[in-house]
Amino acid sequence: MQTLRPVAADDPPPRGLSVAKEGGQAFVGREPETEALLAGLGDATSGRGRFFALGGEPGIGKTRLADEFSTRAKAEGALVLWGRCWEAGGAPAYWPWSQSLRGLLRELDPEALRERVAGGGADLAQMLPELRERLPDLSEPSPASPGTARFRLFDALSGFLRRTSEDRPLLLVLEDLHAADAPSLLLLQFVVGEASGSRMLVLATFRDVEVTRDHPLAASLSELARAQGTTRISLAGLSRPDAGRLIEAITGRTPPAELVAAIHRETEGNPLFIGEVVRALASEGWPRSASDCRPWPIPEGVREVIGRRLHRLPEDCRRILTVGSVIGRDFAVEALRRITGRSAQDLLDSVRDAVAAGVIGDVRNAPGTFRFAHSLIRDTRYEELTPAHRIRLHREVGEDLEAMYARDPEPHLAELAYHFFEAAPAGDGRKAVDHAVAAGRRAVALLAYEEAVRLFRMALQALRESPDEELRCQVLLLLGDAESRSGDGPASRETLLEAAGIATRLDLPELLARAAFAYAGRIPWARAGIDRQVIPLLKQALEALGAEDSVLRVLLLSRLAGALRDQPAMAPRAALGREAVAMARRIGDPETLIYALLGQLASTFLGPDGLDQRFAFAEELDRLTEQVEDRERRMEALFFRFLAFMASGQVWEARDQAELHSRLAGELRQPCHQWYAGMVVTILALQDGRFEEADRLIAKTLEAGRQAQAWDAEASHLFALFGLRREQGRLAELEDDLRRAPLDYPGYRSLRCMLLTTLCDLGRLDEARALFEQLATGEFAAFPKDSEWLFALTLLAEAAEVLGDRDRDRALVLYRQLAPYAGLVALAASEVSVGPVSRPVGILATLLGHDDDAAGHFEDAIACTQRMGARPWLAHAQQAYARMLVGRGRPGDRKRAVELLTSALEACERLGMAVLAGRVTALLAELGVRPRRRPGTAAAAPVGVPKGTMLTPREREVTGLVAEGLSNRQIAEGLYLSERTAETHVQNILTKLGFCSRTQVAGWAVRESLPQQAT
Ligand SMILES: Nc1ncnc2c1ncn2[C@@H]1O[C@H](COP(=O)(O)OP(=O)(O)OP(=O)(O)O)[C@@H](O)[C@H]1O
Ligand SMILES: [Mg+2]
Repeated sequence: MQTLRPVAADDPPPRGLSVAKEGGQAFVGREPETEALLAGLGDATSGRGRFFALGGEPGIGKTRLADEFSTRAKAEGALVLWGRCWEAGGAPAYWPWSQSLRGLLRELDPEALRERVAGGGADLAQMLPELRERLPDLSEPSPASPGTARFRLFDALSGFLRRTSEDRPLLLVLEDLHAADAPSLLLLQFVVGEASGSRMLVLATFRDVEVTRDHPLAASLSELARAQGTTRISLAGLSRPDAGRLIEAITGRTPPAELVAAIHRETEGNPLFIGEVVRALASEGWPRSASDCRPWPIPEGVREVIGRRLHRLPEDCRRILTVGSVIGRDFAVEALRRITGRSAQDLLDSVRDAVAAGVIGDVRNAPGTFRFAHSLIRDTRYEELTPAHRIRLHREVGEDLEAMYARDPEPHLAELAYHFFEAAPAGDGRKAVDHAVAAGRRAVALLAYEEAVRLFRMALQALRESPDEELRCQVLLLLGDAESRSGDGPASRETLLEAAGIATRLDLPELLARAAFAYAGRIPWARAGIDRQVIPLLKQALEALGAEDSVLRVLLLSRLAGALRDQPAMAPRAALGREAVAMARRIGDPETLIYALLGQLASTFLGPDGLDQRFAFAEELDRLTEQVEDRERRMEALFFRFLAFMASGQVWEARDQAELHSRLAGELRQPCHQWYAGMVVTILALQDGRFEEADRLIAKTLEAGRQAQAWDAEASHLFALFGLRREQGRLAELEDDLRRAPLDYPGYRSLRCMLLTTLCDLGRLDEARALFEQLATGEFAAFPKDSEWLFALTLLAEAAEVLGDRDRDRALVLYRQLAPYAGLVALAASEVSVGPVSRPVGILATLLGHDDDAAGHFEDAIACTQRMGARPWLAHAQQAYARMLVGRGRPGDRKRAVELLTSALEACERLGMAVLAGRVTALLAELGVRPRRRPGTAAAAPVGVPKGTMLTPREREVTGLVAEGLSNRQIAEGLYLSERTAETHVQNILTKLGFCSRTQVAGWAVRESLPQQAT
C-alpha cells in the first residue's frame, strides 16, 4: 500500500450510507494533550503565560483538539481569539493576526479599547485600519527606521493583548501556521517572547510535514523553543482502541476487532483518514456481523478517496466547485454568480449536493459564503484543472475581484496579485506586475517587509519576458529596499547593484542616485570599510545627477562624506559635507538637513579640531530631531553630544547625555540602539574603573552590535576590550587579534598603536621598538587628525616613555603635535577613553627634559581626572608625574613622588590594574620604599615581567602563597575563598605561566622577586 495521505472530513456521509449523523461530533482520545493544555491554561490564568506549538500531519486532529480545548477554556472563563492562515495564496500581510484581533475589536467598547491599546494605538492602526474608525482621534505614528517602526507595531500589539488578558485570561489560537506570511511569524515570536509574564496562552497549529528546513516556520519554531513556557506537542495517530471508538461513533455500531485493526493499520490512526475510509467502506457494504471477515477493500490514499467522493457528485456541481477552488478555500455565491453569469438560485441548487455530502459547508458570520470542508478537498479539486483552464479561471476571478474592489482595492491587493500572477502565462503579465507592486508597497506600509520581498519578487518574475527595463529597475529598487528592511543586507546589495546597472545602461540619473544611496545604507557615518563598490557608486551617481540642488544630491554627498571616513585626507570629505549642509539649508527640509548635519559631523568634526562645531551641530541636531519627533536620529545626536562632552572633559554633562541616550535606547529596543547605548555605558564604566562590569558590558554590547552592524561592531569591540585588558594586564590575550585586525579594518589606524602598547606591556621591547620606528615614518604621517588621532598619539607617547631616551627626536615630534590639544580628553573613535591629553604631553615633556613644563601638565591631568572621577587615569597620571619627579630629584620631589605612587598603588590594587601596579611598585623600589599592602590585595608585579603581567592581582596573590608552599586548602583559608576557587586560581596560574608544577611557580615567583605574603 502506498503512503497514506489523510483526507478531509467531519463531513456527513455520502448518500446511501448508514453513518450516524452525530458521529462527526464525538471526540476521542487525546487525554495527555488535553491535560497538558489545561495545565497550561492554569499557568496562564495565574500570570505565567504559555505557548503551545501543536504540529502534526494533515487530518491528524490539530484543529479539532484546538477546538475542543477552546470550548473548555471558554467554559473556564477565558476569552478566546482565533486567527486562521489563508492557505490558497493571496492573503494580506498579518492575516491571522488581523483576523483574530478584529474579533477583539468587536468585543470592546471605545473606552475599554482606548485603555487597552494605551500609547500604541497609532502604531497598531497600521495593521488594523478599523481601529481608526473606532478611535477617530488617533494620531499618526511618528517616523522611525524600518526596524524601529516594526518594533513599535509589535510592541503595541503585544501590549494590547497583555492588557486585555489582565481582565480575563486570553487564549489565542493561530491555525495553520505553515501557511503564514513571514512577518506574522516574526510577530508571533515577539508576542510569545513577551507573553511569559502575562495571562495569555497562545496555541499555534501547523502541519509539520510542510515545514521543511528552509521554511520560515522552521526558524521561528527553533527560536520559539527557547522562549520560556514553550511546549511543543506532536500529534500522532489515535491509538487502536481510540480508533475503534471513533469508528463506532461514526457508524453508530461496534465494529469487529479485525476491522478496527485493519483500518488502524492502514490509516495509522489518522482520524480524518479513518472517517474517509469508514465512509468509503460503508458505501461498498458494511459488514453484517462481527464474524463477517471479508478482506476489507481499503482505499489507496486520501486524495484518491476524496477524488472518488467528488466524482460521485453531479457534473455541474463539480464544475462550480472547481471555480470555487480557484477563488480559495472560502468562496461567495455572489462571486460565483458574477464569474459564471448564472443566477444565485441556480448556483445554490447546483451546490446543494456538495453541501449534503459535507464537501463544503457554510461559513459562520459570512452568509452566502461556502468553505471547503478541508483544504485537501479544495486542493484535490484545484489540481484536477488543466493548465489552460486554470489560467483562464484565475484571470476571470482576478478581473471579478478587480471590478468588485475598484473603489477600495488596498486590502485586496495581494489577492489580486496572486490571481493575475497565476493568469500571467496568458499574456496579462502587466496586471500581475502592477498588482504585485501595489501589494508590495502596501506590505511595506504595514511593516510586513518579508511579505513585501515576496511580492516584489513576484512582480519581477512576471516582468521576466517584458522589455520594460525601466520598470524592472524601479521594481528592483523597491525590492532592494524591502530586503534591507527585512534585514537581508547581502541580498539587498545585490539587487541594488543590478538596479544601478540598469539605470547606468539606460542613462536614468535619478534611478541611479536612488540605487546608489540605498546601496550605501542610511547610516550617514558608516565607513566604506571593506566594501569596494560603495564609493565609486556614490561618485558615479553624483556625477550623473548634475549639480542642481536636490534632496537626493544632499543625501549622496553626505553619504559619500561618511563613506570616505577611512581615508587619510580630511579635506575632500569635509568639502562634501559642507556642500551637503549648505544645500540642505537652501532646500529647507528638516529631515534632509538632519541627515546632512549627521554626515558632516561624523565625517569632519570627530577629530581633535572639530570640537566647537561638534557641539554646535549636535545642539542643532538635538533641536531638529525633537522637532520632527525622530527618536532614532535624536539618539545619534545625543551620542555625538556625549562624545563632545567626554572629549572636553565635561564628564558630568556627558553622563546626563548618556542617561538620556540609554533611556531612548530602552524605548526603541533595537539592536542598533542597544549597541550604541552599550558603547556609551562601557566608556563610562572603563573610565570609572568598574572593570568587572565593563567586562560584562563589552560582551553584551558586542552581541547587540553583531545584530546591527556586524563589521563595525567587531572593530568597536576590540577597542573596548583593549581598554579593559590593558589595565588588567591581560593584553597577551588580544595579541593575535591585534595583529590580524589592521588587515580587516584598514581604516582604523590606531589598531597598530594598540599592538605597540601590547608589546611594551609584555616586555617585548625589541619588537616594540621596530614597530614604533615604522609608525613614526614621516613624522607619524600615517595618523590623520581623525576621531582616533588623540588616542593613537597618546599610545605612541606612552610607548616612547617605555622605550626610553633613544626616541628623543620622536618624542619631540609627538610633543609638538599633541601639546596644542593638552586641554582635551583622548578617546578612541567612540569606544574607550585614555584620559586627558595633558598626561601624554607631560610624559613627552619629561622625555625632552622639560621637567617644569611636564609638572604643569601632570598637575592639569590630575586635576582633570579628579574632576572626571576617572580613577584609572588619575593613577596613570600620578605614576607618570612621580616618574618625572624621581628623575628631577629636587628637594621635596621624592616625598611628593612617594605620595603620588602610594595613592596610585592603592587605586591599582582596588581596581585591579596589574601593569600599572607593576610600574608603580618598581618606582617605589627605586626609591627604596617597600609598599605597605592593604590586607587581601595583590602584590604588584615589577615592570618588565612579561609572564607576570598576565596574572590578575588575585592570581599574583595566590602565586605568592604558592611560593610559600601553602596547599590549596591553606590558600583558601587565608584568602577566605572556597577550596575549589583556590584550586581554579592555581590552575589558571599554571596555564598562564606555562608551568606544570607548583614548584615551578614558586621558583618563578622568587626569580621575579614577586613579593611574598608579609609575615
Ligand atoms: N480526537 C478526535 N476525535 C474525533 N474526531 C477527530 C479527532 N481528531 C480529529 N478528528 C476529526 O478528524 C478530522 C480531521 O481533523 P482536523 O481537521 O482537526 O485535522 P487537522 O490536523 O487540523 O488537519 P489539517 O492539517 O488538514 O488542518 C476532522 O473531521 C475531525 O473532527
Ligand atoms: Mg486543521
